Amino acid sequence: TILVLDFGGQYNQLIARRVRELHVYCEMHPFTMSIDAIREMNPKGIIFTGGPSSVYAEKAPAVDPAIYDLGIPILGICYGMQLMVNQLGGKVGGAESREFGKASLTITVSEGPFAGMEGDVQCWMSHGDKVEMLPHGFVSSGKTDHAPFAAMADPVRRFYGVQFHPEVRHTPQGMDMMRSFLFGVCGCTGEWTMENFIEEQVAAIRERVGGGKVLCALSGGVDSSVAALLVHRAVGEQLTCVYVDHGFMRLNESERIVKTFRDELGMNLIAVEASERFLAKVAGVSDPETKRKGIGNEFIRVFEEEAAKLGQVDFLVQGTLYPDVVESGTATADTIKTHHNVGGLPEDMKFELIEPLRTLFKDEVREVGQKLGLPEDIVWRQPFPGPGLAIRVLGEITKESLDILRHADDIVFQEIKKAGLYRQIWQSFVVLPTSVRSVGVMGDCRTYEYPAILRAVTSDDAMTADWARLPYELLEKISNRIVNEVKGVNRVVYDITSKPPGTIEWE
Ligand code: XMP
Repeated sequence: TILVLDFGGQYNQLIARRVRELHVYCEMHPFTMSIDAIREMNPKGIIFTGGPSSVYAEKAPAVDPAIYDLGIPILGICYGMQLMVNQLGGKVGGAESREFGKASLTITVSEGPFAGMEGDVQCWMSHGDKVEMLPHGFVSSGKTDHAPFAAMADPVRRFYGVQFHPEVRHTPQGMDMMRSFLFGVCGCTGEWTMENFIEEQVAAIRERVGGGKVLCALSGGVDSSVAALLVHRAVGEQLTCVYVDHGFMRLNESERIVKTFRDELGMNLIAVEASERFLAKVAGVSDPETKRKGIGNEFIRVFEEEAAKLGQVDFLVQGTLYPDVVESGTATADTIKTHHNVGGLPEDMKFELIEPLRTLFKDEVREVGQKLGLPEDIVWRQPFPGPGLAIRVLGEITKESLDILRHADDIVFQEIKKAGLYRQIWQSFVVLPTSVRSVGVMGDCRTYEYPAILRAVTSDDAMTADWARLPYELLEKISNRIVNEVKGVNRVVYDITSKPPGTIEWE
């Protein structure tokens, strides 16, 4: 195991992902992790991440200096390097100018992360402070025009520091540096593969569940699907999945989910057709948050009813991923929307949670899904909000408006797929503003119908997003098809707002 100690920098999860990409298991923990816990974990190496603070700021994040006596190799990145300098007796000062962006690094000592590298390499800088004096035992191993100590090495204690960010793509040799640190310095072997992960998890789940009964709320999304499949691999018939069809799914999606899991994958699946119930719940509601809450609560009720029919259930499967685990420790972000997780748990239900994916990143989950035989269309499914199309019919929802939206949405889905862009685009969909109608002309007739709003964004994690630069030909095709084929829509507009200031969804 590699321990990534988190000091709050923006690229921190990326560091953990890079380590995993090199098939080395790592965990990210806040810098406040106790020295005893670290000792118990006994990692092969430690990486200090970047962070927004200055080491000499009041209450600057720091680690227990006892960490330097553990005999474990350490790589400090950006703030992490400055912290090492500060704690080990060197000196950090404010730089006259912040250094941000690409820089050329001249490697002076081919040691540790720089093993086998010489001369100049491109790197990505993003910092305000800089190292002015190295601590005892260190040599400068790389410099840039602005930073004489852009990298440092203490090969005896196996401590290394880099002022730049090896984890970002703008440092093209960054992965080589990480590799050299992990394999050369720490002695990692790179055996963390998804095959091994599946094997270990299946064994662990089997042992934990014993003869117990397991329940899973299946949404059709990647996370719950993979989690269910993994548990199914472990305990087979002891797992029952419940799929609640709230009627806000895309065209033919519910049928597809039932067919896949029940017929093709042979799982116990209870599919509850509850669209009337949900439609009644949102009837007359136009406020987005009220809609969300109504749907979320109704979901829990339906799910509870089904669970009750099963009698005693011992475990509940959830598709929690690592970013949620890492973030929930420090999250202070404002609630812009209540992202009511539709797998939301009623508080008085008594069962233990099984979260088999809680150490994985999304790309790893996809790989596990693939290895377990999940169909491609589910493995690569774009994120889809729990309340589904209900938050894409703006304002009041009727069966008619849902059908219009569903039809238009399907055209977008088909065309984006056909253009080979489905995987590159984070989400692509249609929003239907039911309080807006515009005049058009079709054939010789005047029309007065809804516009369809096309939204397509690129993103890495949904925290920020940019509108996708779709080719004009594709936009034209989509526009033509929607106006010609979808009754009730006579105009198509494209949303060119990024997030922030917009959000991905309209409600
Ligand atoms: P926004 O619109 O806030 O969305 O930029 C960020 C991501 O979250 C999804 N989303 C939801 N997911 N329940 C969900 O499960 C919700 O109520 C919900 N609202 C937004 C959205 O599709 C995007 O991926």
